Amino acid sequence: AMNVHMYRHWTVQENIRRLKDRGVEFIDPVEGLLACGYEGQGKLADPADIVEKIQSLLVKARDWSGRTVLVTAGPTREPLDPVRFFSNRSSGKMGYAIAEAAQRRGARVLLITGPTHLRPPAGVEVTAVETAEQMYEAVMSRMEEVDVIIKAAAVADYTAVQVAEQKIKKSSDQLTVQLRRTPDILAEVGRRRRPGQCVVGFAAETEQVDRYAQDKLVRKGADFIVANDVSRSDIGFDADNNRVSVFGKDGFVETWPLMSKRQVADKLLDLVLHQFFKKGQE
Ligand code: PMT
Repeated sequence: AMNVHMYRHWTVQENIRRLKDRGVEFIDPVEGLLACGYEGQGKLADPADIVEKIQSLLVKARDWSGRTVLVTAGPTREPLDPVRFFSNRSSGKMGYAIAEAAQRRGARVLLITGPTHLRPPAGVEVTAVETAEQMYEAVMSRMEEVDVIIKAAAVADYTAVQVAEQKIKKSSDQLTVQLRRTPDILAEVGRRRRPGQCVVGFAAETEQVDRYAQDKLVRKGADFIVANDVSRSDIGFDADNNRVSVFGKDGFVETWPLMSKRQVADKLLDLVLHQFFKKGQE
């Protein structure tokens, strides 16, 4: 709590954002008459609200203990020659946020990640891969031991039929490259999953987001699909925030307002816990 102008100052807001990014929880000041005589946001939150928030954080603290979560994150890279590759846009932020939240809430977490600039969350078991084929092998080799698989990675759908051994020279104005499909990891997970295992996919779409996401839910045999509209620059790829809709195979649909990827991660974990594992309803 503080003076409204101090609170709104960009340096304070920037510091708050940084701390939130590191996982610090805030109970924001509320609007009202401030001790300094100003009116605005800066007033200490109601003590009852502070207690409620602390209680909810403590209850949530270890609600994933005893479960193992596999998360894929980041892009894959498909080599063309020793110096070039095809890739997908993905910073890894969404997947890393899920891995961090699951770990913080007590789960054992396996993070299978394509190349990113992010530091993996502490306490998470990391497998670094480059190509879709490597991600496929890594996921298949670990999927038996996990309770939930969350596929936030942006896997390249195509890879070069032939990878040149030496750097391709610029000998012509045009270059034709033949591509072949990569294995669809999510669809294979959907086929091989054992009863009681939860499968969550993401759908990155630029148009008809809900329609294509619902189609993927069925085609890939997932329990939930989280749909993001990646045509917008403020959400989806690279951004710190996301605005998603979640579709469940039993007809469940929810659209969440714009929020940080950390918040999306926590809400998604809440959803899986309560909708799939029915925790809290036994
Ligand atoms: O990493 P960020 O910058 O934070 O951005 C987050 C994100 C937008 C990358 C992420 O939220 C997201 O949407 N990830 C999925 C991207 C994607 O590949 O979407 P898709 O619609 O092409 O694939 C659908 C699902 O199938 C995904 O779960 C994907 O992991 C999976 N897939 C796709 C192709 C393939 N060969 N194997 C797969 O498993």
